[in-house]
Amino acid sequence: MANVGFTIWFTGLSGSGKSTLSEILEQRLQAHGHNVEIMDGDIVRTHLSKGLGFSREDRDTNIKRIAFVCNLLSRNGVICISAAIAPYREAREWAREHIGNFVEIYVKCPIDVCRARDVKGLYKLVDEGKIKNFTGVDDPYEEPEHPELVVETDKETIEESISRIFAKLEELGYLTSADYSATTTAAVADHA
Ligand code: ADX
Repeated sequence: MANVGFTIWFTGLSGSGKSTLSEILEQRLQAHGHNVEIMDGDIVRTHLSKGLGFSREDRDTNIKRIAFVCNLLSRNGVICISAAIAPYREAREWAREHIGNFVEIYVKCPIDVCRARDVKGLYKLVDEGKIKNFTGVDDPYEEPEHPELVVETDKETIEESISRIFAKLEELGYLTSADYSATTTAAVADHA
């Protein structure tokens, strides 16, 4: 089943690690010849969802657009990775139904740790009152109830989370170890 497209649907707070994990997965899978696309919230919002804000309605529209593209890609054999916050359960369930081959991964990290990381400097702006309706602060984040996997980025190393994700994808039948293992990467490079 290794060449079947599917969607890895990350969800979690800003700064939880969705983009970092997505990029590492992308590199590892591309090194094994897979077609991979990342739908990152920040990037999508500069193109496909340009002009949308952060009301519930706009966030739902954003998620439905991302899900629409993930469906198109994954049904054509691409491994699609969504890295948006996707704070509302209902929209995530919509995406699950709409896409089909769907693996929901909750990137769990306490907000205090996200705030301390403050990769984009946004939590500082939130604290200064310059951004309102920020997810997890004064806007909801509905934790997944039955995700395929939870990775806890404040407790695991990045490599541990990546290994657990690959193990889950293998368990679900989307990948075999030959699709991601480091030794195979070397072998692929040798024969390139
Ligand atoms: S979602 O809610 O619609 O899924 P999305 O992932 O696309 O959100 O965008 C979130 C990103 O937008 C954050 O990582 C952050 O960089 C930025 N952002 C700006 N304002 C907000 C806000 N009010 N709430 C959350 N993220 C925000």
